Formats: sequence, C-alpha cells, structure tokens
Amino acid sequence: MMRVTFVHADGKGRTEVEAEPGSILLDVAQAHLMPLEGTCEGQMACSTCHVIVAKEDFDRLPPASEMEEDMLDLAAGVRRTSRLSCQISLTAEMGALTVHIPSESRNMQGPR
Ligand code: FES
Repeated sequence: MMRVTFVHADGKGRTEVEAEPGSILLDVAQAHLMPLEGTCEGQMACSTCHVIVAKEDFDRLPPASEMEEDMLDLAAGVRRTSRLSCQISLTAEMGALTVHIPSESRNMQGPR
C-alpha cells in the first residue's frame, strides 16, 4: 500500500488515503470523492482530471508523454508540476504522493 494525500482546492483541507500499487491516481481520487471529473475516462481527451503534483514528488513520477503534455496545455490553471491523474499509475516505489486539486475544480462535486 502507498499513501496519497490530496490537498483540497481551498489549499487547506487534506484527504489522506491508502492506495494499492497499480491503481490509477484518478480512480483513487474519485473513490474518495475528490472533485476531478475525468470526463473521458482516461482517454486523454479532456484534461478534467488535471492535478498539480507536489514539487518534491513530481520528479519521482515517470515523465508525461507528448500527448499528455498537449492535453495539459488545454487545462485551466496549469503549473510546472501539473499532470493528468488518469495517466499516473501508482507504484510501491513512490511510497507517498501529494497532489493538489486545482482551484478550477472547485465548482464540481466533492470536498473543497
Ligand atoms: Fe480525460 Fe484524464 S480523464 S484526460
């Protein structure tokens, strides 16, 4: 198991969860009611699964593909450490991961 911390869109609230290696980050987020829409269900066609990875964790992730980079260009509030959560497969080696829910996601259902 590994630990994932979601920092809510208000920057204050946090949800810490355990996740199975091999899980997709978007699925973990949605299972814990984080407000990530994931409209295209991981087909890299929407960018509504955008998260901002904590700087200290970003470099430990496999790099984004060119297609993911292209889709991130369309996401609102993109930062240097932005990723599409549907493209992040959790591994035991990651140990722990902290991601921020973009404030642009606040109008969706779920914890703020
Ligand atoms: Fe659509 Fe990730 S769910 S790009």
